[in-house]
Amino acid sequence: MCGIVGILGTEPVATRLVDALKRLEYRGYDSAGVATLEAGRLDRRRAEGKLQNLEARLSDAPLQGHTGIGHTRWATHGAPTETNAHPHMTEQVSVVHNGIIENFRELREELTGEGAAFATETDTEVIAHLITRELKAGHDPVRAVFNTLRRLEGAFALAIIFGGYDDLMIAARQGSPLAIGFGEGEMYLGSDAIALAPFTDTISYLEDGDWAVITRDGLAVRNREGKAVERPVQKSVASALLVDKGNHRHFMAKEIHEQPEVISHTLANYVDFAAGRVQLPDLPFDFADLPRLTISACGTAAYAGLVAKYWFERYARLHVEIDIASEFRYREAPLEPGGLALFVSQSGETADTLAALRYCREQEQHTVSIVNVRESTIARESHAMLPTLAGPEIGVASTKAFTCQLTVLACLAIAAGKARGHVSESQEAELIAALTEVPRHISSILRDEARYEVLAHPLAKARDVLYLGRGISFPLALEGALKLKEISYIHAEGYAAGELKHGPIALIDETVPVIVIAPRDNLFDKTVSNMQEVAARDGRIVLVTDAHEGEAGCPVMDTIRVPTAHAFTNPLIYAVPVQLIAYHTAVLMGTDVDQPRNLAKSVTVE
Ligand code: M6R
Repeated sequence: MCGIVGILGTEPVATRLVDALKRLEYRGYDSAGVATLEAGRLDRRRAEGKLQNLEARLSDAPLQGHTGIGHTRWATHGAPTETNAHPHMTEQVSVVHNGIIENFRELREELTGEGAAFATETDTEVIAHLITRELKAGHDPVRAVFNTLRRLEGAFALAIIFGGYDDLMIAARQGSPLAIGFGEGEMYLGSDAIALAPFTDTISYLEDGDWAVITRDGLAVRNREGKAVERPVQKSVASALLVDKGNHRHFMAKEIHEQPEVISHTLANYVDFAAGRVQLPDLPFDFADLPRLTISACGTAAYAGLVAKYWFERYARLHVEIDIASEFRYREAPLEPGGLALFVSQSGETADTLAALRYCREQEQHTVSIVNVRESTIARESHAMLPTLAGPEIGVASTKAFTCQLTVLACLAIAAGKARGHVSESQEAELIAALTEVPRHISSILRDEARYEVLAHPLAKARDVLYLGRGISFPLALEGALKLKEISYIHAEGYAAGELKHGPIALIDETVPVIVIAPRDNLFDKTVSNMQEVAARDGRIVLVTDAHEGEAGCPVMDTIRVPTAHAFTNPLIYAVPVQLIAYHTAVLMGTDVDQPRNLAKSVTVE
């Protein structure tokens, strides 16, 4: 999604704005721009594509202003062209925007009727014209923005600077997050604290409906009604070193390799290893009393939730409903008051997941979020928040966040099983011991990475790839297909192995690789039967398993052997081969692995 930065500086800011934008690249974007104020006059540079194109523009025609805003755009309204790139400007005002202005059509008609000339197809440009109209009517910038905000519908974040006002920036937040940073005689603005980490670790977050008048001396925050409000100033944990890929070629590779460590950190947060017990923070409900559990999330986070459904049903005998948040939010699902609703989100800002959370609060559910960003909106609006300790995930394809989500969900399922009398103390110790071994097993998979480079060659030639899994491996098949399609652009689908003969088997021939996730668990023999159906139709099977050579009893193109682990932890372990398959196939195909086309890291629009 779009990224916003702003600086009220003591020296030229254009280069620093671009550096801050680089730290937001992970969110996904297709054009970029900066505007600064020099001798009272606004000027801007914009470019299609990557930030180096913008840097080239700035090198040809530098901007010298000490006050500036910058933007990476993920196109929603209008193609990703230079014309549609932000900042949008009139002589009086320059604006960058993240989100969607839902009533932009009627506003555009209104403004066009009054003679405003629009240069772009974007929804954002109406904001620049609305503010300009207010300024021309004689209002000062603060009143002009206040009047404009009252006209805007939708979810958005804004940063605005004004011709003739060198010491002024106004920011507004309605739905999309904004962090304000404090420096020595300077002030900063960013879509998140990561963007601001090289400048400051002293941060204040705007709340929904807030707008802030920022000068070099500080800021004044007002709420939706225009009333002055105080927001806490806190120390951010975002690190200035975050954009470092280490020795890895891509952030995704680095993040895959970080998994043993971040899973250990996450586990240590929820487990007393010495006692062999799960230790959760105080939760405002008792698992024993819950009528049911509702899980809502999007994409990979939803697949983590689907794995958890198997765990909660098997170990806690708790009825679980799971749905993707974009569907759940509009279903008007009846929910018995007092139930538990779980929301899983790496970013903690996903618009559909947030809407599902708000619906569940209205339905008197206890709401718990599992998020990777503690200061996020979903975290703050939940009754309780359980953090994943994955560290910032920069690659658009979620990897370490997924396995850390599974780690927290596994601990939660054990706690639920214990509270509901279905997991004994010795079983709890056994399951925790199994979780403790996960980092070691993943390290051993990562040592065998070279074999995924070999497997990538036949996969990269495929037009379609099927992933099959049964039971708790079914969500892994879905995750494997999502990973492959999002970064390699090869069409891939995940199916429950037993569903194969109800339709997808028609696709099987010698051109279609079928990746089978088949740990040697109680369902292994069933999955083997489905593999035999594939083999009988000349399908090219890639078997991911801990079974011994020959146990599958049918010809396979390749076997990825993983360590044998406790069945409970298999989803964590099998997640890694599916990540490596997707990663090496995409690398071989030469795609933009960390920022695949059309995708955004933090999906703050529905
Ligand atoms: O930030 P969230 O976890 O809420 O994001 C949910 C999905 O957008 C995300 O998992 C997406 O599917 C990833 N690109 C998958 O790799």
